[in-house]
Amino acid sequence: MPKAPDQTTNDLWHVVAATDELAIGLVETTLLLDRRIALTRGLDGEPVVWLASDEENGDEIDAETVLDRLPVRTAYGYTWTCLGSPSAELFPIQEYAEADRTNMSCGSIGIHVSAPRAVENFLDMGHFPYVHTDILGSEPHTEVKEYDVEVSEERDEVLATKCKFIQPMAAKSATQAMEVEYVYRVPHPFCSVLYKSCPEDENRRDVIGIFLQPMTEETCRAHLLQSMIDSYSTITDLRRFQQTIFGQDKPILENQYPKKLPLDPRSETPIRADKSAIAYRRWLSQKGITYGVIPQAS
Ligand SMILES: [Fe+2]
Repeated sequence: MPKAPDQTTNDLWHVVAATDELAIGLVETTLLLDRRIALTRGLDGEPVVWLASDEENGDEIDAETVLDRLPVRTAYGYTWTCLGSPSAELFPIQEYAEADRTNMSCGSIGIHVSAPRAVENFLDMGHFPYVHTDILGSEPHTEVKEYDVEVSEERDEVLATKCKFIQPMAAKSATQAMEVEYVYRVPHPFCSVLYKSCPEDENRRDVIGIFLQPMTEETCRAHLLQSMIDSYSTITDLRRFQQTIFGQDKPILENQYPKKLPLDPRSETPIRADKSAIAYRRWLSQKGITYGVIPQAS
């Protein structure tokens, strides 16, 4: 029997599907926090989520007949649900509503690693030249320069700012190498949002979100969001760019050991002081998260 998730995790909104990929009247099943859940969309297009009993993927169903439903919310193109009592609003991404942005989901990718490991990898710029060679980084520009990290009490999120890195091809719209500036937010224990310099408009930022669905303590699905300023590329091209990047991360992530994220600062001393990872681990500890992590010994 898997252990029950901690209260904080249980009461969070969790991403479970790209809403427009859910077929109306067909069942999709997946795992959330070790529980099997089922999803569909009603004729009105609204997602319906419930704890699965004997439903199977691809079963036909009339969403109206599902009475015992889990709470549902749609945001950023995705369907979110909660197994406990959702209290907080979902974190805001204001840019998503800007009319001239191209917003898209970029796929839901299963990864054999815990959700917090995937968040931490997303925060790490040090791997760019080695894993995303000639796209997000290249030798000899391997240095992660000093940046700022804070945990905002007011917004309850980790924020890393002034992260700078020289990138050969920062986005699909990039025509030359540029020094990009990143801002990372971790506004949810299993989600991160990245704002990076936009090759097309120096006053604005492209936004990339990674929302992790914790399936079990050691497996997750990564749901990717792009909210871009790009008047040339097609959605297919933009998606492919992001999927290429993530395809490079997946084997690296799956090789991590242990698959759960150790929160004890002494257990994995990073060679280079990775401030955002340390802040993220500390924040998870403070929030009492025990799911998908190896908690700090008390
Ligand atoms: Fe990466």
